[in-house]
Amino acid sequence: MLTCPVDRTPLSFDGSAFHCISSTGHNYPVINGIPRFVQSDNYVSSFSLEWNIHNKTQLDCFRDDAVSEKEFMTKTDFSPGDLRGKLILDAGVGAGRYTDIMSRWGAEVVGVDLSYAVEAAHKSFCDRENVMIVQGDISALPFRHGTFDAIISIGVLHHTPDTFRYFSYLVPFLKPGGSIAIWVYPNEGQFRVRKKWIPFTSRIPNSLFYAWCQWFIPITHRHASNPIIEALRPLFPWSDQGLGVEYDVLDTFDGYSPRYHGIHSREEVMAWFKEVGLIEVYSPNDCNTAVRGRLPG
Ligand SMILES: C[S@@+](CC[C@H](N)C(=O)[O-])C[C@H]1O[C@@H](n2cnc3c(N)ncnc32)[C@H](O)[C@@H]1O
Repeated sequence: MLTCPVDRTPLSFDGSAFHCISSTGHNYPVINGIPRFVQSDNYVSSFSLEWNIHNKTQLDCFRDDAVSEKEFMTKTDFSPGDLRGKLILDAGVGAGRYTDIMSRWGAEVVGVDLSYAVEAAHKSFCDRENVMIVQGDISALPFRHGTFDAIISIGVLHHTPDTFRYFSYLVPFLKPGGSIAIWVYPNEGQFRVRKKWIPFTSRIPNSLFYAWCQWFIPITHRHASNPIIEALRPLFPWSDQGLGVEYDVLDTFDGYSPRYHGIHSREEVMAWFKEVGLIEVYSPNDCNTAVRGRLPG
């Protein structure tokens, strides 16, 4: 299924790199077992840091719970029977919490990410024969058009330079009749407040801001009912998911460190699906900006 993302021509493989068979001679090395279709992590260095520290924090298979599975089912409306034996693209795989679920359900999963999160995902899943991890950019994916039975992209597209444009890049990779399910940040509540902070917090060096989250979040846990902490929360909404300090450190860093932080309404997202020709567009489980649709065919 791999294709040169520049020329869209087939690739040959010599054991250490993929080579474009056209005369342009593009080469794509395989490093640490991962095909690399980008030369750096570009604008997503915060994700490279967070997913390599928190490579297991949100993975149900390591936590021994079903938090990510429930969230996946709520946001996509997919159940195990829908995906078993199907070829799925997890666009913006991160540490792979949804790849974990889909592959355990019996799907063949390709996880792609622009960041070095791919190192973490590859380490977690390299022993699963039905998972392949690739480092690549959604704006130039290294796959043949019409490859996937389904594409999921949860919590990703609002972190790109243009949420709609990056969504539209995904659609040609669906097989006719294939489904796509996405979730993007809603234009409401704490997402709006965080967006105001992003121009400042995303400029703080990643390791410094991460160290601050590691210091600050345990304080919010220890002094949850302190009036100063309570007064601060609406101004700077940190994560408080009830899943432990580690989860909240990750989620707070994740919420304030990325370069891009788009927020959108459900109507806007549903309109995008219709604009690119998708049918049977709906919002699963009435979950704010989670939207799913199908390519005709
Ligand atoms: C908040 S994380 C979500 C990861 C995963 N979907 C999850 O929910 O755990 C967003 C991910 O999108 C990736 N990403 C952002 N822009 C991308 C692009 N243009 N191409 C591929 N991945 C991208 C980031 O590197 C990051 O790992």
